[in-house]
Amino acid sequence: MIWGLGTSHIPAIGAAMDNGKTGELYWKPLFDGYAPARDWMRANRPDVAIIVYNDHANSVDLDVVPAFGIGTAESYRVADEGWGHRPVPDVVGAPELSEHLVRQLIDDSFDIATFNQLDVDHGLTVPLSVFCPDPGETWPCAVVPLLVNVIQYPQPTAARCLALGRALGRAIRTFPQDIRVAVFGTGGMSHQLAGARAGLINTPFDRMFLDAIETDPASLANLNREDYIREAGTEGIELIMWLVMRGALGDRIRRVHDAYHVPASNTAAGLVLFDVLEPGELVPE
Ligand code: DHB
Ligand code: FE
Repeated sequence: MIWGLGTSHIPAIGAAMDNGKTGELYWKPLFDGYAPARDWMRANRPDVAIIVYNDHANSVDLDVVPAFGIGTAESYRVADEGWGHRPVPDVVGAPELSEHLVRQLIDDSFDIATFNQLDVDHGLTVPLSVFCPDPGETWPCAVVPLLVNVIQYPQPTAARCLALGRALGRAIRTFPQDIRVAVFGTGGMSHQLAGARAGLINTPFDRMFLDAIETDPASLANLNREDYIREAGTEGIELIMWLVMRGALGDRIRRVHDAYHVPASNTAAGLVLFDVLEPGELVPE
């Protein structure tokens, strides 16, 4: 494992890139905040990205809602979310790694659903664009989608997400092939798209989360789903997916970069990038 990225997956961020608006006054500060992370990630290219995300009832309808799932396909088409398919490449899978992760996680008592066919929505493609703004014909790495239900009650607990991440880290480390893996946690930060509190942003909570995801993820795992929804909004509970990423990285990490910008669309956009230290490399003070 080489690095972990936490990032919002707001569809308007993808649309700003697709429509050449990143230099406009509204968007420039957000994309300027991404630049150091992008430079660093470009220099540290993974072979496979495990992208922890949620489908927003675009590809997976609400008739079947697994708590956790892993895509096992050779490739994933970009979903049409109602305004056409984003002008970005289809996503190449890593089926051998997917099968290994499913087996290891089930043996580790996480009952994972498998998605043998899946279209991927903005929850996965926008983080890929945050990582790589100009993919050309193909994304720079293969992808394993890891789906979490954050849209229908009862969502898995934050503690379960952190524990899943730890198990995911163990599973990645036992994969027999020598590959460079990055883990993305996506969604958040504070936002609520509908209802009486639509437009909710809670900057003190987001700042606390950006700090604690590095230094004290257990404190974030102790919050319950109502805490997340009260503090971060009905869609802010997407932040539990960052805990899967954080759990996978283990204790020996270094923060490379973070960024926070309000608003992007209706949402507080956050980013945090962690380097996973090599054995023998010192943990910074
Ligand atoms: C927005 C944010 C999301 O996380 C999402 O899934 C859809 C829309 C928004 O802010 O517009
Ligand atoms: Fe979302």
